[in-house]
Amino acid sequence: MVELVSASSAETEELAARLATRLAVGDVVEVRGELGAGKTTFVRGACRALGISEPVTSPTFTIGHRYQGRVDVSHLDLYRFAGVSAAEWGDLESYFDDAIVFVEWPEAGSGVLPLARVTVALEHVDEQRRRITLDATDATLLQEL
Ligand SMILES: Nc1ncnc2c1ncn2[C@@H]1O[C@H](COP(=O)(O)OP(=O)(O)OP(=O)(O)O)[C@@H](O)[C@H]1O
Ligand SMILES: [Mg+2]
Repeated sequence: MVELVSASSAETEELAARLATRLAVGDVVEVRGELGAGKTTFVRGACRALGISEPVTSPTFTIGHRYQGRVDVSHLDLYRFAGVSAAEWGDLESYFDDAIVFVEWPEAGSGVLPLARVTVALEHVDEQRRRITLDATDATLLQEL
């Protein structure tokens, strides 16, 4: 587990960028945290590092976005989901094909979505600072991050 405090959105993006370069297609990253914690900011930093130049915005009012960079990156936001039914999984499944997947508000998908390789949790410290905790199924992924 890695825990640190980010002092700005730029720092959060840089951390995400370092993580992103270690990810591979098929990896799922859960991004947890309260409203405004910086989940989308984190995903944006990862997307930039993966060669995506288009705007990365919160997909709160759609299920998700799929971007093409050096690899494909899917960005899901399950904020409006209480759970994920079989029918809804049918809509989501293709986002997980041949892509690195970031999931904001993953709680609704637990037990349904593919298991995450990395879990990121962001918490407010104050207006500019966020405590960021990263956990991975293989601890070596986070070494010297
Ligand atoms: N250290 C920091 N890390 C990340 N974001 C920060 C930081 N300091 C300030 N911010 C600001 O906090 C806001 C975070 O917004 P963002 O959309 O990334 O949050 P979110 O967790 O995705 O919110 P939502 O739950 O609405 O999806 C941005 O305005 C960003 O500039
Ligand atoms: Mg968001």
